[in-house]
Parts: sequence; structure tokens; C-alpha cells
Amino acid sequence: MQASTAEPLRVERNVSLRAYNTFGLPALARTLVRITGDADVRRLLADPELGRAPKLVLGGGSNLVLTRDVAQVVLKVEVRGLRLVETRDDAWIVEAGGGEGWHDLVAWTLEQGLPGLENLALIPGTVGAAPVQNIGAYGLELAERFESLDAVDLVTGRSVTLDAAACRFGYRDSVFKHTGFGGLAGKSLITRVRLKLPRPWQPVLGYLDLERKRHETGVEAPDARTIFDWVCAIRRAKLPDPATLGNAGSFFKNPVVTAEQCRDIIGRDPHVVHYVLPDGRCKLAAGWLIDACGWKGKSIGRAGVYDKQALVLVNRGGASGAEVVTLARAIQESVYGRFGIRLEPEPVVV
Ligand code: EPU
Repeated sequence: MQASTAEPLRVERNVSLRAYNTFGLPALARTLVRITGDADVRRLLADPELGRAPKLVLGGGSNLVLTRDVAQVVLKVEVRGLRLVETRDDAWIVEAGGGEGWHDLVAWTLEQGLPGLENLALIPGTVGAAPVQNIGAYGLELAERFESLDAVDLVTGRSVTLDAAACRFGYRDSVFKHTGFGGLAGKSLITRVRLKLPRPWQPVLGYLDLERKRHETGVEAPDARTIFDWVCAIRRAKLPDPATLGNAGSFFKNPVVTAEQCRDIIGRDPHVVHYVLPDGRCKLAAGWLIDACGWKGKSIGRAGVYDKQALVLVNRGGASGAEVVTLARAIQESVYGRFGIRLEPEPVVV
């Protein structure tokens, strides 16, 4: 019999997830398996004990609220690799392993002289998680730089490649968040993502905070590195660093309402921050709505509302997931009570 050269599966028991979620919430994974490539998933599926067990895919844990120990088998994605795979006339195509840090990828592309992701600097989380919620910031969404991704089916073990259409990207949304017909939530693990960086490079400016930087610095035509530095500075000034204050970024999506609802809300409060979308509907700034209800800086138990940005909930030290959920519900109730709007959370609650 030929000896197998395959590495054994890396299975760990009763692993604390506190360091694996940016909120810093306490929870144990009963079973955690580190996935470094497609073959690990197939080995896991072939395992008589773990193969059929329910599974939870964990990236950087930056969009996660853990309210209890996790009974599912936690698959911690640790697929590595950053490379330029193609240079086309219209774009550079770069590929990154799902386990790479998103910000590390952005910094690496700039070091390689491959601009295009600079507006998405400093977003916490991994490359593999980025398409799940179609990360976006400062006028750019992942979908606008997306080429394709590789994923492994968690039932069959088959590897597939999906293009942008198959990913069904929307605002903080994709096929990977949907459980209904055709949805892929919980059904696949993203191993590699390819990004398309358009040539020639064009800056994405126009977002208010970036325009303010342009005005302050007098730099009319910033290069990609300058935009990267501006985005990092803006984020550091108004978003808490998860390494020092646990959080999951924006806790709620900015709600989209009909033009009629928007007029009604402006009638009640003319200062409401809103953006008119191309289809006539309006996106409201959830942070403004929460702020207007007086939540900024408030706490319930050890979970709080960040004092510089009301859309971000924080762990003031030793919070439980239940406290975060209680705070989130209280905020939803007061925003609904005052504005008639139901805020939808961004993170996944487990
Ligand atoms: N605002 C307030 N009070 C607050 C917070 C915000 O009045 O406490 C007002 C601001 O003054 C501004 C408006 O609300 O006029 C929007 O605020 P900001 O520009 O900070 O953006 P945001 O809507 O709060 C969104 C994304 C962020 C992304 C920024 C920049 C969502 C849910 N959030 O935040 O993404 O970094 O724009 O593009 O779309 C994330 O998703 O985790 C995230 C951080």
C-alpha cells in the first residue's frame, strides 16, 4: 500500500474564538478545522464524524456576533497567496487566498504598482469574506473590482469558479448571504478571489470625506498612494480599531426607502442625511438616524455605541454577544419608533 503524502486534517477541540472575532466576544468552537486549500475541505467531507456535521465558515470574524458556543464545525479559512495572474490591456488581474487579510492585499497591490483598491484600505476581515457582504467604502464596492472567485461546495466537495453575475452582488449583499432557492449561505467556502484593477488607473473621488481631504491638503490630483493614506487617516479618525476596542464595523446597513417615505421623513426632520439613488429611491444614513435618537456614546451593560460614529457598536470590555444583541434591538426599536424605519443588521448573529 502506498503511504499517503497528504497532511492530516488539523482538527482542534474547544477552541476559544475570542481572538477570532473582532468584537472580542467569548465563545468556544467545539471543533475547529483549519482549511489551507480545497483538498482540506474534501478531506473533511470524507471524514466519517465531521463530514456530515453542520459547518460554519470563519474568515476574519469581522462581521460576526457570537452569542453562544458554536456547535457547528468551525472551518477557519487559512488559504494563503497573493499574486498577479494576468496583465491585460484593460486591467491587471490579481489573485488572493481567502485567508489573506483584506488590508494586506490592498497594501500589497500598491507596493506592486497595481493601484485600484486604495479606497477599500483598512477594512477589517479576510479576502474570502470580502465578496460575502460585498465590502464597500469611500465610493467603491468590491463588486466594481471583482473578476471571479473559487469556492468549494461544502456538500459535494467540488471546486467551482463564480463570476460577478453568479455572485449576485448588491449593497452589502451577495448570493453567499442567502439561504433560499439558489442561495449559497453556509453551502460553500471561498478559497480564492480574483480582482480586476482597471488600466489606466482612475481615482475614485467624490465621497465627501475624500473631497474634504483634497480641499484641506490642496492636492487636486492625488495618486493611489495618497488616496490610500487619506482613507486610512479618515477611518482611523472615526472608526475604532478592533485591536483596542472590539467592534464589527457598521452594525446596521444604511436603509433604502422609497422617494415617498424619504419625503415623509424629511418632512419630520429636514436634516436627515440621505442620498438619492439612480432609481429615485433614497439611502438614509443609519448612523445619523441612530445619532438623532440620542444613542451616541450610550451603553447597555458592557456593549456600547461608539462615541464618534453611532453606526458602530463596541465592546467596552468583557461584553457578551447577548448584550450586543440587546443593545442592537433597543436601537432598532427607537429608530422604528421615531422614524418608522426598520434597521437591518450587517453582521451575522450566531
Ligand atoms: N452620521 C451622523 N452621526 C453619526 C454617524 C454618521 O450624523 O454618528 C452622518 C455623517 O455625518 C454622514 C452620514 O451620517 O453625513 C454618513 O456617515 P459616514 O460617511 O461615516 O458613512 P456611514 O454611512 O456611516 C458607510 C459604510 C461604511 C463605510 C463608510 C464610508 C454602511 C453600512 N457603512 O458608513 O462601511 O466605511 O460609509 O464609505 O454602508 C462597514 O460596512 O462596516 C463600514 C464601516
